[in-house]
Amino acid sequence: MDFSGFYKLPVEDRLKRLREAGRISGEDEKLLLDGDALKMDVADRMVENVVGRFHLPFSVVPGVVVNGKEYVVPMVIEEPSVVAACANGCKLARESGGFTADADEPIMIGEMQVVGVGKEAKEKVLEGKERIMEKAKEYAAGVERYGGGMRGLEVREIQTARGEMLILMFEVDVRDIMGANTVNTILEGAAPIVEEVSGGKVRLKILTNLAVKRKARARCVWKREVVGGEVVEGVLDGYEMAAHDIYRCATHNKGIMNGMDAVALATGNDWRAVEAGAHSYAAIGSYKPLTRYYADEGGNLVGEIEVPLAVGTVGGAININPVAQLGQKILGAEGAGELSMVMAAVGLAQNFAALRALGTTGIQAGHMKLHARNLAVIAGAHTPKEIDMVVRKMDESRVYTVENARKIFEGMR
Ligand code: HMG
Repeated sequence: MDFSGFYKLPVEDRLKRLREAGRISGEDEKLLLDGDALKMDVADRMVENVVGRFHLPFSVVPGVVVNGKEYVVPMVIEEPSVVAACANGCKLARESGGFTADADEPIMIGEMQVVGVGKEAKEKVLEGKERIMEKAKEYAAGVERYGGGMRGLEVREIQTARGEMLILMFEVDVRDIMGANTVNTILEGAAPIVEEVSGGKVRLKILTNLAVKRKARARCVWKREVVGGEVVEGVLDGYEMAAHDIYRCATHNKGIMNGMDAVALATGNDWRAVEAGAHSYAAIGSYKPLTRYYADEGGNLVGEIEVPLAVGTVGGAININPVAQLGQKILGAEGAGELSMVMAAVGLAQNFAALRALGTTGIQAGHMKLHARNLAVIAGAHTPKEIDMVVRKMDESRVYTVENARKIFEGMR
């Protein structure tokens, strides 16, 4: 379906297009328009000390093609121009068939810290590995029903200021859930037998967000004749700067997370876990970009991303928050692996769009133009007509500041 110009439509017409495309039902539309979709009693059960609810815009990017399937991607974010940039990167990607992507099996790693260990502790644990695995399996019964379960156990020794410690790494296939609770339950269940086998004391039992066994990858070729030679060169120069300058690299990766976090939020996933995984993965060895760019033989721009993505399509807040459930429905990913592939593609599109702007016209032209509506409101404009007028005059002056918005608004009065 052609979603061109989607962003120019009023909200009601965007919803109509989604309904016509079979992405949402009439009930879903009501939910999206309902300011009270997350009921107070539900919110009160989700976390502690609740006194209200906090609203954010729920957007979609239609026409995101990954492995030949076309997605409508939901995004929840407060920052202007992120959604537009993602839409732009994905639109230009469509010209060459979209993104290709793949994902690892959904293996999460849980860490168990054993302190007060003697010299032979590691050997003892390795000898008792089967017993530990058997015990762990008892607590993995929930995911086993869905085809997941215990997959492995590694042992590492670390030297610390408080002496030698053993770190047991439990590998668990969690299928379509994020898996934190499952992994932590397994760890706590297996702790007594680990103490018995190792002769040490078990302290921390917690999953790691550095989900190196659960990575997703996406790739795209942006055609030179579509994006223009200057964009290809600009993106390549921008990428090289990130690869050799940590100050730029932090911002480069932040731009990637703009998109991936927004999808994580819209689908009820733990975006802090996604953040921690991405940045710690980028820091293995030395901190580096999560994406990579090069030109192919035809001078086209090839972009690639690889990132750990511990996300689920069921469980946790997804089962509780009706808007998150709708986010999952709109995306229509069949399982966590597919969701992670789309998220990786979004991260790549986001990064490409930012580099395209940064390497050519600069970020302010697109970003501040979209932020101008917020500046107009901060300056006191209320009605759509007032906001449009302030934005138009700011566009003319190309000075996007609150002071300028105020000056324009007061001048209008
Ligand atoms: P443009 O080339 O002028 O766009 O870019 P266009 O008017 O030619 O439209 C092309 C397509 O872009 C549209 O297709 C839409 O898909 C999309 P169509 O629907 O017409 O077939 N599009 C929009 N979608 C929704 N709302 C809109 C909109 N406009 C275009 N208003 C654009 C304009 C703003 C997209 C471009 O300048 C851009 O991508 N800029 C980058 C903005 C950005 O990266 N923002 C992120 C926030 S800044 C940040 O925090 C990250 C950063 O620091 C990261 C880093 O440093 O790497 C930058």
